This record gives sequence, structure tokens and C-alpha cells, in this order.
Amino acid sequence: MDSLNKLNKILLQGKRVLVRGDLDVPVQDGVITDPSRLEAMRETLDYLVLRNVKVILMGHLGRPEGKIVEELRLTPIAEYLTSLGYDVIKLNVALGTELYQTLKVMEDGTILLLENLRFDPREEKNDENFAKDIASFGDLYVNECFATSHREHASISQVPKFLDAYSGFRLEREIENINKVISNYETPLVAVFGGIKLETKLPVISKFLKISDFVLLGGRLGINYETDNNYKILVPIDYLGDKEDIGPKTVKMFSNVIDTAKTVIWNGPMGKIEDDAYLSGTKEIAEAIINSKAFSLVGGGDTIEALNKLKITDKMSFVSMGGGAMLEYISGNKLPGLLALNFYE
Ligand code: 3PG
Repeated sequence: MDSLNKLNKILLQGKRVLVRGDLDVPVQDGVITDPSRLEAMRETLDYLVLRNVKVILMGHLGRPEGKIVEELRLTPIAEYLTSLGYDVIKLNVALGTELYQTLKVMEDGTILLLENLRFDPREEKNDENFAKDIASFGDLYVNECFATSHREHASISQVPKFLDAYSGFRLEREIENINKVISNYETPLVAVFGGIKLETKLPVISKFLKISDFVLLGGRLGINYETDNNYKILVPIDYLGDKEDIGPKTVKMFSNVIDTAKTVIWNGPMGKIEDDAYLSGTKEIAEAIINSKAFSLVGGGDTIEALNKLKITDKMSFVSMGGGAMLEYISGNKLPGLLALNFYE
């Protein structure tokens, strides 16, 4: 049975806890445009802070490729967490004397935020010595980064080897809710996929061709998929613009199927949502899901962006913070972050 080491089963008082978070949030001109991933960590942060733990929070933002990129510093994340009421000290480095000295004066119940781990090339190289150094500053490790757990990087797959490692509360909920669409699901199960890159979604499409009642494909996916006459797959039958969105007949066909569902998984918008003229297909499919009686799991950055734009994100049963990670978990690939927690043993 897949299982996780639970954070609420241990005594934390007086400990230094290394938390690997999902800090990779969209930032525009220094302002976080969607803080959902930070909000999702709050249960774990509150739990630790209230127990007077010293929290060492670490993570990445964007893809700086092993170099310092000023716009990818974690300053907006420190500011956001401070605005939530946490006592945050932000470092300008991930490791080094600054960290050592700050730890000495750090008070219980506060958060020390390390600089973007990906400024150091050793993070993405999954470097064992880098991980050992990080681990030496903590007493235990918490994975609260489901959305990055498909990456074999030092802070995710190596640090937990050197410390007792636990799952964050959000990580647990991600797994619980995703499991509701791949095992123990209520039928009819309907999978809805959209977006651009067909290759990245093929493994998950074939997974749902085995277990679901219908697979609905919108976006570029629906245009590029060769149906091979599989009765479970429905692709668009009409479009808006130059195939920029699904058309009204497709919306009706998809909505009728969704209406029968007891379980729905959705990843990927139906059209070119960055253009408001082509948001309607995605909006109507979202509404069909909300109006159905189904348990709905939604994931993927673009899909969440569309739901946020439409202000209906909270109407879904569960919104996963993971895009790639969610798809990989669903496809049955073992995620390095979960392997490091001995989840699959
Ligand atoms: C994500 O946003 O999917 C994660 O933060 C992983 O980011 P990456 O694709 O740059 O590794």
C-alpha cells in the first residue's frame, strides 16, 4: 500500500525543519499574480510555526539554469508570506556563512527563506554533496512540493536521504485527491484534456482510455489526435476562429457527456485562452463540470489560469497544484520526490 510518513505523528518542539516548498509561482514585475501554491502550503507552515519550530523554507522560481537571475530572486515570496503574518527572514544565498549566522540568531516560530535553489547548478544536477550541506542545517525534512516532485533534483530526491523525511499536509491531500480519479473512482469517469502538447499528454490519455468511460479532447490536442475510431474518444466537431477554440456543437457534445459523470479529471484549456475571444469553450466546459454532480479534479497551470480569470477556481472539488507532476503521477511514473519519502515501498 502506498503510504506517507505523516508530519502530525512526531514531536517537533525545538526542531529545525527543512521544508521544500512549491515556491514556483507566476510573478509579473515583482508581483505574484497567482499565489495558490503559497496558500496551499499554509496548513503545514501554520502547524510548524505554532509548534515553535524553526522553519527553513527552500524552493525554486523559474528556470535560472544555475546562475543568479535578479528577477528570479525569492523576494516576492518572502513579501507575500510576510503579508500573511509569518515572521520571515530572507537570505540572498541558499548556503554559506550568511545562513550559518542567521540560524544562530533565528527565533522559534519563524521562517528562514533560502534563496532560489536553482541559482546553484548543483540543485538540478541532483548533487549529493549540495544536498548533504543543506541537510546539515535541519533536524528533519518535509516535502511540501508536490508540483516539483517529478524532478530528480537535490532538494527533492537527495536531502531526504540524510534526514527523517515527512510529507506535508498538502502533499498528502494531493495524493488522496488524485487517487480518487485513478483508483476507487465512481463511474462514469470522464477525462477531459486540452492544451497544446499532444506528446506530453499521450501517456495520460492512454491511461484514461483504459479506465474511463470517455476521454474528451479539446485545444490543439483534439485537432492533432488521431482517433483510430476508439469509441471512448471524442474530439471537436466544430471550432471558433481558425480552430482557436471549440465551437458550440462540441461544447454541447462534451457537456452532455460531462453531465452523466460521477468523476471528472480535467487538464488543459479547450482553446487559446490568452485571447478573451477564445475563452468561451473553456468557460462552458468548466461550467458543465461545476453543474454536474461529479467529483472534479483539475490541474495544470494554464487550466488554473483560466479558472482564476473566470473566478470559478473554488467551485471545483480539488485543484491540484501540480501540472507535470500530476500527469506523471497519474500515468503511473514513480515521482522522485515520493520515492525519496519511501512512498512506493
Ligand atoms: C512546475 O511549475 O511545474 C514546477 O515548479 C516544476 O518546474 P520546472 O518545470 O521548471 O521543473
